[in-house]
Amino acid sequence: MSETQRLDTLLRESRRFEPPPQFRTTANYADPEIYERAAADPEGYWAQEACHLDWFEPFHTVLEWEPPHAKWFLGGKLNAAYNAVDRHRQGARKNKVAFIWEGEPGDTRVYTYDQLGREVDRAAHVLAKLGVKRGDRVTIYLPMIPELPVAMLACAKIGAIHSVVFGGFSANALRERILDANSRLLITADGGWRRGNVVPLKQNADAAVEGTLVERVLVVHRVGEASGAAWVPGRDVSWEDEMAAAPSAPYPAVPMDAEDVLFLLYTSGTTGKPKGIVHTTGGYLTGCNTSMRTVFDIKDDDVYFCTADIGWVTGHTYVVYGPLSAGATVVMYEGAPDYPDRDRFWTLVDKYQVTIFYSAPTLIRSFMKWGTSYVQKHDLSSLRLLGTVGEPINPEAWMWFHEHVGHGRCPIVDTWWQTETGCAMIAPLPGLVATKPGSATRPVPGIVADVVDEEGRPVPAGQGGYLVIRKPWPSMLRTIWGDDERFRNTYFGKFPGVYLPGDGAHVDEDGYFWILGRIDDVINVSGHRIGTMEVESALVSHPAVAEAAVIGRHHDIKGQAVTAFVTVKEGVTPDQSLADELKQHVVEQIGALARPEEILFTAELPKTRSAKIMRRLLRDIAEGRVLGDTTTLADPGVIQELKEKYAHRE
Ligand code: WTA
Repeated sequence: MSETQRLDTLLRESRRFEPPPQFRTTANYADPEIYERAAADPEGYWAQEACHLDWFEPFHTVLEWEPPHAKWFLGGKLNAAYNAVDRHRQGARKNKVAFIWEGEPGDTRVYTYDQLGREVDRAAHVLAKLGVKRGDRVTIYLPMIPELPVAMLACAKIGAIHSVVFGGFSANALRERILDANSRLLITADGGWRRGNVVPLKQNADAAVEGTLVERVLVVHRVGEASGAAWVPGRDVSWEDEMAAAPSAPYPAVPMDAEDVLFLLYTSGTTGKPKGIVHTTGGYLTGCNTSMRTVFDIKDDDVYFCTADIGWVTGHTYVVYGPLSAGATVVMYEGAPDYPDRDRFWTLVDKYQVTIFYSAPTLIRSFMKWGTSYVQKHDLSSLRLLGTVGEPINPEAWMWFHEHVGHGRCPIVDTWWQTETGCAMIAPLPGLVATKPGSATRPVPGIVADVVDEEGRPVPAGQGGYLVIRKPWPSMLRTIWGDDERFRNTYFGKFPGVYLPGDGAHVDEDGYFWILGRIDDVINVSGHRIGTMEVESALVSHPAVAEAAVIGRHHDIKGQAVTAFVTVKEGVTPDQSLADELKQHVVEQIGALARPEEILFTAELPKTRSAKIMRRLLRDIAEGRVLGDTTTLADPGVIQELKEKYAHRE
């Protein structure tokens, strides 16, 4: 579907689903009073919500706002690992299951809160022994195995800052992130399982740490002999050996200031360099803990399954800190949704009687394509609430999810948020807000969002504009690691004091928000943010390439696909084998998630007279649209030629 068609569908969408009465009766929030209370006094609302956490010392000031810098809960001291794990060990949840983990090959591990706490304590001892101190950055490059949350929580417990890098990133991408954070310790695994194959994490890690400050590599053994990686004596340390040797005594949680950094998480922006998004302890934890109660309606008997990888923000917030701080039982799965067959998620839902299932539109579109037989094979009657995140969900996918997974019984929370926002920002409270397929509905209590024009003025209902957040909120990013200037310019440069997420949106006559996608040079492939500049830099780093322009083209399953237009240097033959080589080059530079779907060689790229590449026209070509305004083109011939070439590509 083209962008204009998609807009039309969204605008025509008029279906509306009230919260099912049965759901409403038991919902955490079924009274609009919460919206009114939060709107009347957002700071007071957040201060109340923060009291759901355990503080070693109470905060004396709720908010200090010197745009664009916010400080929340000043004077307060707390520890994120203590809140996520230890506080539950002391009460009725001591023996409650925290994680039900299933590996891709089918192996399982179950951790109660007490057992998880003991693992975290041991790991904290291990980190301390390896010399990790409060404020140090520890890079973590692990598959979806229990050691990943354990490592994160161990960092949090001792006050170190974790920087988790998604296991799908390449050695180069990992190195870049290690260097930016100046980490001295890397935690990785000998490999991970994906569709029955080994992901060579250790081999990537070995290549990545060259030339960085990393002194020690702590290695979890996951795949054993299948690893293929060599051991580097003196540098590599075995996780299992260290854990076995660690004292069994508890490791005391370090009281952290509310504004101490909890973690860095890198995300793509409009330049080639990824941004290290900085989240702090008190605000972030308040945000994710609150949304578990409001958006996810979490109850003590829920079994909660979020399918995201912890390498992304959704996994940080909604596999680790959110559900654990709420004392929930979390299902965590290591591998691919279609391994060994396309019903793996439904097998998990059935087997563990999952009640809340949180996934992504791109996956739902795959499920749709695979057909209903896979869902029908399983008993999904335990489900009571569904959620999506990552990109706008097309109404057809929403309806499919509603009918075939939720059996018309489960509300769907479409949650709009970002790495930068820390937790869900625009999403329904499922017992309270009627849903419309394709709309994330309204800002959650305590969040003040708007859609504005170029001058920052609110636009009339139905008219597109810039999505903005008008007031600071606890879980907002505090800065970009090592680059406050970029933080200011990117998020607060356009409208002073107002946060600019970089998405387009419109609000309908009922006040519902419809997110239209990115308005910058960031594309969304299978719910993953990729900067077109990052891919362009990767392409031009290849010796055959003179110039490259990368765009996102509509893709039925992935949402968008990476399309690259490339000009080659003198004397280079632009053929299929070069195209394949360039695709592989991008995989090596960034990771498989950024692999171009197609590469089109061209003698020239369309440029303005001031030599700016007109990506807008390239998108028009790739999506088969009538070309937009071409009057600023330096050479209109270029675009005609490209259009014909694209139409006749293989
Ligand atoms: C997009 C993921 C529409 C959006 C949590 C945003 C969405 C970017 C939705 C952030 C949604 C995420 N509806 N668009 N429900 N959720 N997006 O940082 O463009 O990986 O800016 O965080 O994903 O992606 P990120």
